[in-house]
This record gives sequence, C-alpha cells and structure tokens, in this order.
Amino acid sequence: MGSVEKVLLFGSTGRIGAGLLRRLVKEFQVSVFVRTPSKVPESMKDKVKIIQGDVFNEEQVEQAMEGHDAAVFAIGQHRVLGGGSIATDATKLVLAAMKKQNVSKLIVINIPHAYQRGTFNHTMLKSITSIGDHGRQMEVLKAEKDIAWVALATPWVKYVDTVNPTYMVELGKDPGVNAVTSGELADFMVKILKNEDEYKKYNQGLVGISSKPKTGWFS
Ligand SMILES: NC(=O)c1ccc[n+]([C@@H]2O[C@H](COP(=O)([O-])OP(=O)(O)OC[C@H]3O[C@@H](n4cnc5c(N)ncnc54)[C@H](OP(=O)(O)O)[C@@H]3O)[C@@H](O)[C@H]2O)c1
Repeated sequence: MGSVEKVLLFGSTGRIGAGLLRRLVKEFQVSVFVRTPSKVPESMKDKVKIIQGDVFNEEQVEQAMEGHDAAVFAIGQHRVLGGGSIATDATKLVLAAMKKQNVSKLIVINIPHAYQRGTFNHTMLKSITSIGDHGRQMEVLKAEKDIAWVALATPWVKYVDTVNPTYMVELGKDPGVNAVTSGELADFMVKILKNEDEYKKYNQGLVGISSKPKTGWFS
C-alpha cells in the first residue's frame, strides 16, 4: 500500500459521486473518469483532472488509472429498480486496470449486509434488482486478494454534505439506522485513505456505515 495523494473517482457525475467529489477535492489530487465532461460542475472544473471515457472500455480505464494511488468507485445504475450487472462488470475491469498500473487501493459503494443476505422482509426492497448486482460485485471483490479493497455497505443515501460527527462505522455489520449522507461516506473515505492503519482495519471487508443508531428499519 502506501500514502495516498492521487485519487481516481469513477461515477462523479452521479448522485453519490457528486458529493464524494466535493469532499475528495479538498483532500487529494482528484481525477474524474466521466463519459460526459460537460457534466462536471463548473465549480469543479479547475480543481480536477477530467478523463473522458466509458468504464466498459478496457483501454480507457487502464490508461486513466496510470499514476494514481487509489480509486473510488461509485458507478451504478440510475434507477434502483433497474436490473443488469453494471457494478459487477465494471468492478472487474477496474480491478484488472489497477493491477496493470500498480494501483493498490479501491473503495467501492456496495449495499448493506442485510440486503446481501436477503434477510429483509419488505416487498419494495425485494424488488430492487440492483441488489443482485451488488451481491455479485461483492463476490468479485472477495475473490480478489491482490488489491486492498474496501466495500461500503451503503444504505439509503441522503445527498447532502452534512457529516454527523457521531456517524457509525462497523466492519462486517450494519451499525445503525437505514440512512447515511454522501458527506459521511466521503468523510470515512478520507479518514481511511489518509491513515494507513485505519485502512488496514477495513481492508478486504464490507463495512457498515450509518448516520445514527437504529430504531427501526426505516427510521
Ligand atoms: N443512491 C443510493 O441511495 C444508494 C445506496 C446504496 C448503494 N448505491 C449504489 O451506489 C452506486 C451509485 O449510486 P447513485 O445513486 O449515485 O447512481 P447514479 O446517480 O445513477 O450515478 C451513476 C454514475 O455512474 C456513472 N456511469 C454509469 N455507467 C457508466 C459507464 N459506462 N462509464 C462511466 N461511468 C458510468 C454515471 O455517469 P453518467 O453521468 O455518464 O450517467 C454516474 O456518474 C450504484 O451502484 C448504486 O446501486 C446507491
């Protein structure tokens, strides 16, 4: 592993990725890998290196990866009800590019432990087919021994930069209420990317994260 200065962010034009970008640019030299450069907010254009590409173009991903210390992956599908396997397939390509370019750290947005195990009992949740995609994405990561990956077991995200200083993080478990802010996701990423010992604690794990303690499924 090693210290992190340069971060390559995938999915920065998405709902979660936009919040990650706003925080990551304050802490690291950030490159964004985007299909449409015009979607990068004006306020960010002089703060990031914009790399145009499609995550399913192997060559573009490999070239983009060069020179970075870590990658953050927040690519997915626009509607939670959409099927497909974008997270899984793109994760495979990103991991392959990382190995070729000797980039050792990867943080990905995944889904809560409860969804993975199918232990929820709610019709709406059962209809969210991207759950299957993230389950398969997790299998790809678990089989990966050479990269120091961390998967965030992300519940419903509130797209705000607010960070509750007592937000909770727990390795291998969903720690609290079924919601987190983009700011808190970004804050945790910064903490572990800046501290090697912290990163090692969560290395190759699915990490639960939540704004506050649990009082019920949707509270
Ligand atoms: N939102 C939540 O509450 C939540 C909770 C748990 C987990 N997640 C997971 O987190 C991930 C991101 O969610 P989100 O809500 O932020 O999704 P989103 O708003 O739909 O953003 C998706 C991002 O992926 C990018 N993308 C899609 N296909 C691409 C491709 N072929 N090449 C390059 N970039 C591509 C999109 O770029 P364009 O702008 O070019 O389309 C966009 O930046 C998803 O995997 C989702 O399942 C979300």
